[in-house]
Amino acid sequence: MIGRLNHVAIAVPDLTAAADQYRNTLGAKVNAPQDEPDHGVTVVFIELPNTKIELLYPLGENSPIKGFLEKNPAGGIHHICYEVDDILAARDHLIASGARVLGTGDPKIGAHGKPVLFLHPKDFNGCLVELEQV
Ligand code: CO
Repeated sequence: MIGRLNHVAIAVPDLTAAADQYRNTLGAKVNAPQDEPDHGVTVVFIELPNTKIELLYPLGENSPIKGFLEKNPAGGIHHICYEVDDILAARDHLIASGARVLGTGDPKIGAHGKPVLFLHPKDFNGCLVELEQV
C-alpha cells in the first residue's frame, strides 16, 4: 500500500542555523523558508536525489511542533511521510486494521498542496507517520 518515502520531517530549535548547516556543511539543495499557517509551522524544504527533508519550526502559539521541541530541545525527527495512491482507501484499510488516524480522520491539504493524514505514533513503533496522496 505505501510507496516511496516522500520526506522525513525534523523539528529544529533554530531554523536559520539548521538550514545553513544543511546548505553549507552537508552541501544540500536548501529552499527558502515557507510559512504554513494552517499547519502551525515554518518549513524549509531540502531536496535530496531520492527524497526530501523538511525542517519544521513552530509558527504561532498553537503550533503542533511547540510541545515536541519542549520535550526535545535539541530538535529531533518529528515524522516520516509515505506516499499512497489512494488516501481514502489507505485510511479505511488502516482503520479496519486497528490503527488510529489523528484528527477528524478526513485528509487535510498538506504542505505540498496534496491530501495528507497522520497516524498515531503509538500504533507505529513510536513514529508519527504521515500519508500523502500523490
Ligand atoms: Co510532513
